[in-house]
Amino acid sequence: MLLVKKKILIGMTGGIACYKIPILVRALKKEKAEVKIVMTEAATKFITPLTLETVSENPVAIDMFEPKSYIATRHIDLSEWADVNLIAPATANCLGKIASGISDDLLTTVICATTTDTIFSPAMNVHMWENKITQRNIQILKDIGYLFIDPAEGEMACKHYGVGRMPEPEDLLVELVKHLTKKQTRSVKKKAY
Ligand SMILES: Cc1cc2nc3c(=O)[nH]c(=O)nc-3n(C[C@H](O)[C@H](O)[C@H](O)COP(=O)(O)O)c2cc1C
Repeated sequence: MLLVKKKILIGMTGGIACYKIPILVRALKKEKAEVKIVMTEAATKFITPLTLETVSENPVAIDMFEPKSYIATRHIDLSEWADVNLIAPATANCLGKIASGISDDLLTTVICATTTDTIFSPAMNVHMWENKITQRNIQILKDIGYLFIDPAEGEMACKHYGVGRMPEPEDLLVELVKHLTKKQTRSVKKKAY
């Protein structure tokens, strides 16, 4: 149990790699982490909030203006909750918005408001990844101090081959453990979850 009582906020944006996140969440829960999830509207097209609520054992936040919410400042509460924020998958769109200071939905507002370490795991088609605007936005975010897990190379859902695949859930787990324990945890064994 490597993550007892560690709080991890996962921000999911609208990429095909959303299918990997429930597996990551299960792995985090097995390591005894607390997990909350914020999804963009686009992310909900790829995987249902119900699945994420079930594996995280927490409500999933999507709407900025939640009519039933009794906590009007939920975006601030979420921005202050975690020990680390992981944006995965991170779309080209969300990287551009956050690099430009745009906060037009709950997730980008939470990231604008947070002072917690934030790690992006970009995932996109190879041409989107190599696009100079995407690379410029990533450089802007890195220069400010945001952290990145580089995408892997391989075949993509669109059948292109190249860099842009989100790393597998067990690789994201290793990166989170490394970050949260600030120790060399390269020896953390990959497990099946
Ligand atoms: C089937 C499908 C797969 C997509 N996969 C990705 C992806 O992997 N990465 C990406 O940056 N955008 C991808 N997109 C485009 C995003 O969903 C789109 O830019 C969306 O506006 C992102 O919104 P968000 O950043 O608010 O979640 C995909 C779109 C579709 C229809």
